[in-house]
Amino acid sequence: MHKIIIAIDGYSSCGKSTLAKQLAKTLEYRFIDSGAMYRAVTLYLINHQIDIYNLDAVAESLKNIKIDFKINPENHLQETYLNDENVEMALRINSRIASVVSDVSAISEVRRFLVKQQQFLGNEKGIVMDGRDIGTVVFPHAELKIFVTADPQIRAQRRFDELKEKGQTTTIEEVLANLQKRDHIDTTRADSPLVKAEDAIVLDTSNMNREQQFQFAYDLARKKLGVTSE
Ligand code: DC
Repeated sequence: MHKIIIAIDGYSSCGKSTLAKQLAKTLEYRFIDSGAMYRAVTLYLINHQIDIYNLDAVAESLKNIKIDFKINPENHLQETYLNDENVEMALRINSRIASVVSDVSAISEVRRFLVKQQQFLGNEKGIVMDGRDIGTVVFPHAELKIFVTADPQIRAQRRFDELKEKGQTTTIEEVLANLQKRDHIDTTRADSPLVKAEDAIVLDTSNMNREQQFQFAYDLARKKLGVTSE
């Protein structure tokens, strides 16, 4: 069967990555979490105490950053490596990353650096990538584009539950404030702001469970692949 590129964009904590992962697993496609790449660059800058508002220093740092994805043989989940170090957990729970990653991802040099790598990963098709600009900038010709949204209160609750499960202490108000701040930066930045691609299909996950979200996306993918029955 021919392979396609599936672009999943939308706000943070809408369930994009979970959906993209499940879709990729079922279709036996590669899954790429492009947000993890922006988080990895942010982690590098934090660890090396680079001033993120010093654009020359940020651009110089990019030369020293290598990002890979590897499958963990124990749980078969994909994990992010920064310069050969497994940073998967740090990317998710480090609150300093969450507070500056939107500013880092607004830097054009950072975007150019990562978009090039993302496009390279899509060369062979058979890929599900989630992010903010996948259907608009990275793969404008993706065969299937899904734009995920959800009510901010519901997103904050989901993110709060996720952090609690990982042992993080925070409040729902704090999580909501962080989400709203990131939404604002992501949608208003000059370079590749988060917008729905004209040909993207909207998926509002506010009142849908994971299975319903998956079915919605999987049906769309099957239609694009020309599969009409089980
Ligand atoms: O999906 P996420 O929350 O892990 O993304 C982290 C940040 O990276 C988010 O603030 C927006 C940014 N991002 C981006 O600008 N472009 C992408 N393709 C993916 C993420």
